[in-house]
Amino acid sequence: MSFDTRTFRNALGCFPTGVAVVTAGAGNAVMGITVNSFTSVSLDPPLVLWCMDRKSSRYRTFTTVKNFTISILGSAHQTVSVRLAKPGEHKLDGLPLAPTENGPPGLADSLALLECAREAVHDGGDHAIIVGRVLRVTWDKTGAPLLFFRGRYGALAEEG
Ligand SMILES: Cc1cc2nc3c(=O)[nH]c(=O)nc-3n(C[C@H](O)[C@H](O)[C@H](O)COP(=O)(O)O)c2cc1C
Repeated sequence: MSFDTRTFRNALGCFPTGVAVVTAGAGNAVMGITVNSFTSVSLDPPLVLWCMDRKSSRYRTFTTVKNFTISILGSAHQTVSVRLAKPGEHKLDGLPLAPTENGPPGLADSLALLECAREAVHDGGDHAIIVGRVLRVTWDKTGAPLLFFRGRYGALAEEG
């Protein structure tokens, strides 16, 4: 290997992504984590994936729950994204939530909500690859996405 982890991270950060929050659990125990490893996998069956750091204190919960919800964040969600990326900061207390039919609530005013059943957990080095089967989707035609690029949050440039 001719590069160190920092260089690798910097190179990967050149790939711009959206930002999502994955929620799991119920009632007072519901928790969330900010992720940008979310991606689509398959249309039929409808599968998506995200990757979870094995070192995360949330690792056991998120790799064992039966259902989880993925909220695709809008540009107004930056503060929420920062909060749910803090080590040990898992609780959704005080955040406006959107109820779902198949498990944990999502974040209100998300661009899309994907209600998932855990389909598989694969080995991915120091991360686990969590595959979800999408049971229900809701989405919004409007709204600008929250973006992440080179370690910083951003937004799409205004048209015109
Ligand atoms: C924009 C952004 C994207 C992130 N994406 C991921 C991810 O895809 N997977 C992951 O495990 N952690 C990701 N993290 C880190 C987690 O949100 C969190 O900081 C980490 O799990 C540490 O907290 P914990 O040990 O209490 O779980 C991301 C953080 C940020 C700010």
